Amino acid sequence: MKTYDDLAGDGGSNVIEQVVSQREKLRKRLDPIKHKISVMSGKGGVGKSSVTANMAVCLASRGFKVGILDADLNGPSIGKLLNVPHSEKLEITPEGVQPAIGALGIKIMSMDMLLPSADSPVMWNEGKDATAVWISMMESQALRELLTDTIWGELDYLIIDMPPGSDRIDNVRDLIPELDGVVEITIPSPISQHIVSKSITKSSQLGVSIIGLVENMATYVCPHCNEEGKLFEGEDVEKLSQEKKIPLLGRIPFDTRVSRQSGSGKLFFEEHADSVTGQAISQVVDNILKFIQNKSN
Ligand SMILES: Nc1ncnc2c1ncn2[C@@H]1O[C@H](COP(=O)(O)OP(=O)(O)O)[C@@H](O)[C@H]1O
Ligand SMILES: [Mg+2]
Repeated sequence: MKTYDDLAGDGGSNVIEQVVSQREKLRKRLDPIKHKISVMSGKGGVGKSSVTANMAVCLASRGFKVGILDADLNGPSIGKLLNVPHSEKLEITPEGVQPAIGALGIKIMSMDMLLPSADSPVMWNEGKDATAVWISMMESQALRELLTDTIWGELDYLIIDMPPGSDRIDNVRDLIPELDGVVEITIPSPISQHIVSKSITKSSQLGVSIIGLVENMATYVCPHCNEEGKLFEGEDVEKLSQEKKIPLLGRIPFDTRVSRQSGSGKLFFEEHADSVTGQAISQVVDNILKFIQNKSN
């Protein structure tokens, strides 16, 4: 068997050229997008997708052109949240794939739109023999293709809804070196804050800017008397924000209507922008816009 020492150059595989050409294609596709933000959390189920979708609607309602890449290959949910039926066929052209169009013209690309049916899981060909490292490489490659092959066009904001896990930031940083920054989502439970704290450390170590922290499901607003009460007995998020020296972008209260799509298929922010929770989402968006403005000055 030949070892690497026996091979001249790349052994004829052209691997370096292929990587350079892939990077170049991705760069060209992302160039017309002014800002790229990734929404993440080490923890699952804290509301990354819900916050992403509602923030996107908030930005679009202010006149920004917005796109979302659902990067959670195993639990994609953005299409469902923004009312894009799974049966909708995406138009494939020689130039790439036209993204689905959700509420307020938001462009959406998600792995599940390429799956045969709404309840198909993503299956890697290597099946049960695939190691975690290999799966992570395939995940990264799938994301590169989704990002590169989508005809995003000109956008003001592309928001990337990340799967749980702090290691995922490596992929995003590699794929999008010009990422504006990361929004970290937590809930007020000690376990969530512990995991999110690790995710913040990892992002900082990699030199990725952290736009700030969002505390979701911070409080519960009683629909009868409008009183706000605590939902979890956790540590105050302000402590985490001070410890890690990252801004607190906002605290979004729990509102049962966030998880309930209305009969018309509308997302929470489309119908309840003026509610306490809607206003909290607007405040988070205000703070993200301030961060972007300061960065460009
Ligand atoms: N502020 C909120 N108020 C009420 N329910 C929420 C809120 N944020 C998220 N949820 C609900 O919590 C669940 C998990 O949210 P999701 O956005 O899927 O989390 P993640 O993307 O982090 O896994 C969903 O059922 C969602 O509707
Ligand atoms: Mg999600």
